Amino acid sequence: KKVYIINGPNLNLLGKRENDIYGNLSFEEYFEEMKRTFPQTDLFYFQSNVEGELVSKIQEVSSECDGIILNAAAYTHTSVAIADAISAIETPVVEVHISNVTSREEFRHTSLITPVCRGLILGFGLNSYSLALASLL
Ligand code: DQA
Repeated sequence: KKVYIINGPNLNLLGKRENDIYGNLSFEEYFEEMKRTFPQTDLFYFQSNVEGELVSKIQEVSSECDGIILNAAAYTHTSVAIADAISAIETPVVEVHISNVTSREEFRHTSLITPVCRGLILGFGLNSYSLALASLL
């Protein structure tokens, strides 16, 4: 199976950013670990800080993979365009968050993408990605 992990804005700073919330590991380090844990899966990773690039990537990879794991980061709470891109494709998308957004600021309690995703995993740190992958598989 082929699965894409798509990360949104500021997730390029993982390991350096608000470590108490997001941990000390960079995504690249975690991604290497994930590839070792799921050797049978073809895993790909894309990150962008730009909303339109995330929309284009979702469109582009949908026809060539079996599932998408998406942490849209702050765009989760605002992006109609990303929600529409998910609705437009057949490929299942699992929404993930590193932190438990429901225990944080009010503005993080709304997700525009949850209703159009296959499922949602949040609050387990970077392990949220592995749990999302296990559930997709
Ligand atoms: C996040 C939660 C978002 O509210 C925040 O804007 C992020 C990361 C998470 O993974 O916990 O950048 O998506």
